[in-house]
Amino acid sequence: MKIQFHGHACFSIFTSEGAHLLIDPFLDENPLAKIKSETLSPDVILLTHGHWDHIGDTLKIAKRTNALIIANAEIASYYQLQGLTNLHGMNLGGGFQFPFGYVKMVPALHSSGITQDGKIIYLGNPAGFLLKIEGKTIYHAGDTALSHEMTLLGNANRIDYALLPIGGNFTMDTNDAILAAKALRARHVIPMHYDTFPVIAQNPSFYANQLLNYGIPCSVLQPEEILEVQ
Ligand code: NI
Ligand code: MN
Repeated sequence: MKIQFHGHACFSIFTSEGAHLLIDPFLDENPLAKIKSETLSPDVILLTHGHWDHIGDTLKIAKRTNALIIANAEIASYYQLQGLTNLHGMNLGGGFQFPFGYVKMVPALHSSGITQDGKIIYLGNPAGFLLKIEGKTIYHAGDTALSHEMTLLGNANRIDYALLPIGGNFTMDTNDAILAAKALRARHVIPMHYDTFPVIAQNPSFYANQLLNYGIPCSVLQPEEILEVQ
């Protein structure tokens, strides 16, 4: 299994069996991404919440590829109204066994909505995902504040890889993301949601070094870099 970072909160996960899962496909307007959405043909698109920098290019990718969209119930309905049919709605605390692996939607402390036609459309509750694939557990936190839920998640799961926002302003900053990694008892951390915009500028190497003081390895991935899951 491989994890590829596209910048911001956008990741591809390639399973050994050949499935391509694309999380929060913010590519074409993502200043960090080095590829365009048209170059990706995912089998599955997972959406943590309905902000523009997360739903991103979902509609055009799904129209072209008919990828399965996994998202909260309101986002699933939103895309159904736009003519998509390959949708799987979930909600917080719910898990489902898909052919590629198990997906559990877990809480994130954030918000979810977009502006469209001069109105704010609310798009359900924000979430993170616990993915259990090929014996590994990957946690994509979505956009979130530090929360007590992370202690519960860490107690109940062996989290092999935690993908954590560190940018501050909209989410946890590096200080809170240290506490998050400890609460999650993460075995490995990949920072995300930083440097995309000036307000979320951070020093990921500083974060990685701080984590190492607690014995938690951290991989700072460059956009389009691929990490082989061990
Ligand atoms: Ni957000
Ligand atoms: Mn965001």
